[in-house]
Amino acid sequence: MTWRATALTLFPDMFPGPLGQSLAGRALEQGVWSVEARSLRDYGIGRHRVVDDTPFGGGAGMVMRPDVVSAAIRDVGRAGRPLVYPTPRGRPLRQDDVRRYAAGPGLVLLCGRYEGIDERVLEAEQVEQVSIGDYILSGGEMAALVLLDSCVRLIPGVMGSEASGTEESFSDGLLEYPHYTKPASWEGRDVPDILLSGHHAAIAGWRQTESETATRMRRPDLWAAHLARTGQDTGGPVSLAADPERLH
Ligand code: ADE
Repeated sequence: MTWRATALTLFPDMFPGPLGQSLAGRALEQGVWSVEARSLRDYGIGRHRVVDDTPFGGGAGMVMRPDVVSAAIRDVGRAGRPLVYPTPRGRPLRQDDVRRYAAGPGLVLLCGRYEGIDERVLEAEQVEQVSIGDYILSGGEMAALVLLDSCVRLIPGVMGSEASGTEESFSDGLLEYPHYTKPASWEGRDVPDILLSGHHAAIAGWRQTESETATRMRRPDLWAAHLARTGQDTGGPVSLAADPERLH
């Protein structure tokens, strides 16, 4: 069964884009997953195929029309697939969401441009609004590609032996430990001795500590959640100033 993505976009040539390369690209060729990009322009109004108009209430930019967007949505066979609108107004995308999307039949991705999409169509069509981070992209296509990449790598048969679709950094709610390879000494910087020691239990302990330190320093939000999950005291926020050289 092919995992099926449909993108509704004004720029269909942006798909599959980078997902046509590497392991995702090979899986795409093999039919493990598919992506169809449909042009929203095809549903535009009149001879000029207009898709947007000025915002009621005034303000800068243009808003995508609900009649145009709904026509495109209703023309797509959703077949049980979630309809996702990438937008900085969405709830933050988490690995849990990615796992849920990847385990289903696929996704329909609604890619916005301009200031956004008329709110009424988002309500009427039960659109899931998802953000890939607190920064603004020029449109939803790049965010849709990011979201697709995160899903596709979890589909059985895509990653092969390379990482077997494991979720490294987020599977246990901590950031991953740092990695090292040859040469053991490079430009005066040595690989931590313990990794050369052959003591597997000690190495596992060191990696766990490194994971915890990185999470505590860089992601106090994840660290607080980890402490709550493991039943430990949160102890308040941790300042980077405590050891500014420790992490870069
Ligand atoms: N579209 C524009 N910026 C975005 C973001 N940060 N996340 C998801 N979609 C977006």
